[in-house]
Amino acid sequence: MNENNKNLDMPSGEFNEVGKKLIDWSANYLANLESFPVLPNVKPGDIRAKLPQQPPQKSESFEQIISDLDNIILPGITHWQHPKFMAYFASTASGPGILADLVSSTFNVNGMIWRTSPSLTELEQTVLVWYQEMLGIPKNFKGIVYDTASVSSLHGIASAREYVNAGIRKKGMSGAPKLRLYCSEHAHNSIDKACLTLGLGLDGIRKISCDENFAMIPSELERAIKEDRAKGILPMCVVATIGTTSSTAVDPVDEIAEICEKENIWLHVDTAYAGVTAMLPEMKKYFAGIEKADSIVSNPHKWLFVPIDFSTLYIRKPEVLKRAFSLSAEYLKTAEDSLAENYMDYGIQLGRRFRALKLWFVIRYFGVEGLKARIREHIRIAQQVAKWIDESDSFELLAPTPFSTVCFRAKPQSISDESKLNELNEKLMNEVNSTGKVLLSHTKLNGKFTIRLVISGLRQEEHHAKEVLELLINALESLE
Ligand SMILES: Cc1ncc(COP(=O)(O)O)c(C=O)c1O
Repeated sequence: MNENNKNLDMPSGEFNEVGKKLIDWSANYLANLESFPVLPNVKPGDIRAKLPQQPPQKSESFEQIISDLDNIILPGITHWQHPKFMAYFASTASGPGILADLVSSTFNVNGMIWRTSPSLTELEQTVLVWYQEMLGIPKNFKGIVYDTASVSSLHGIASAREYVNAGIRKKGMSGAPKLRLYCSEHAHNSIDKACLTLGLGLDGIRKISCDENFAMIPSELERAIKEDRAKGILPMCVVATIGTTSSTAVDPVDEIAEICEKENIWLHVDTAYAGVTAMLPEMKKYFAGIEKADSIVSNPHKWLFVPIDFSTLYIRKPEVLKRAFSLSAEYLKTAEDSLAENYMDYGIQLGRRFRALKLWFVIRYFGVEGLKARIREHIRIAQQVAKWIDESDSFELLAPTPFSTVCFRAKPQSISDESKLNELNEKLMNEVNSTGKVLLSHTKLNGKFTIRLVISGLRQEEHHAKEVLELLINALESLE
């Protein structure tokens, strides 16, 4: 490369120098995570106000860029990598995963077809078979990587729509029978979004009620299907969740699968968060019947230390997904089409990142045993937290804790009014979050304001959970 030609990319010497600085910067950030407030102390618009409204016309130095990273961007970061980020489904990126992202961008390959990067396609095939074996998903499923669980589910449900054979691929939804998807009232709203996208509309979804543990009641599902058939509605898909978003409830997949088999309805299982725990023999009980599913979602970017984004869809009838989406264009035809896999055939997108590198680096660096040990430890800490809460006089559990998410609320003996308890718990959560020492999130279960504490971060240790409980106890005393 001619170093004097200013119209080329950053010279390799400078790339090397700045790259080393940014690796130092990143290593420093990860080493000092606990010095940052988990939730930044900024208001909407604060960050934007500090950024120039016009792009620079002339080149700027990396010193300036890194300085703005420190002074403008960092103060507006919510620190997901912080060990006391215990909100939502705490997801962390590991060192090997971060480095894989760098390599992926360095190659900048686009895996639309096999020829546009054979290694992308073949590494994805290989790593997804590894992951499939790790989770115990039978060999007759095929894996595909998408960005998020929302998109994986969209493709699972699109396959279900194709499977009813109503000619929708050709004619669209206008002449189609009225279709119905069933899921529990606790299913993630990405399922509703998939139905919006696929033309089922919100009326195309029937929410099935749940038992006291927030799990779908199979007899209610069966009743709903019968009722719909009697009205001439065509049942298209059932979505079961193992690890719902609010409370991590487990729908009884085995029983649901039997109903789906009998009724010939596509069964999609969303294990976006909890799926990784299928690696552990002691957690297999939550996955009974999963081999009977038609499609299964699991997100290594949630709890397997792979940087966002990385979601997997395993599908038992990949030919149905292919039938739903494959289209050929002259410029994408190659001599290898009959010999190789072209991932563009399995979804709405043409271009795709080299995401498989991330899972490959992560599995190789930690090893399956190392990954299992980390997940097992998270579950152990969460069970310990649940035990502390259960034994406390001023807090109570509001849901079972099958995985690593604890759902609870403060319940001082002096207060029994439900609306006062809701108010108190909302204040309590906001109070501890405002210290910057932790980030917790909430949900509502049976109308009760529920605080969720999630242990699934790579840097979380038992003492972090203890510190958060102390923070909650002290904040509750000050609010009472
Ligand atoms: C059970 C479940 N499914 C799907 C999703 C959506 O995940 P994503 O952000 O990858 O689309 C979530 C998010 O938390 C979830 O909990």
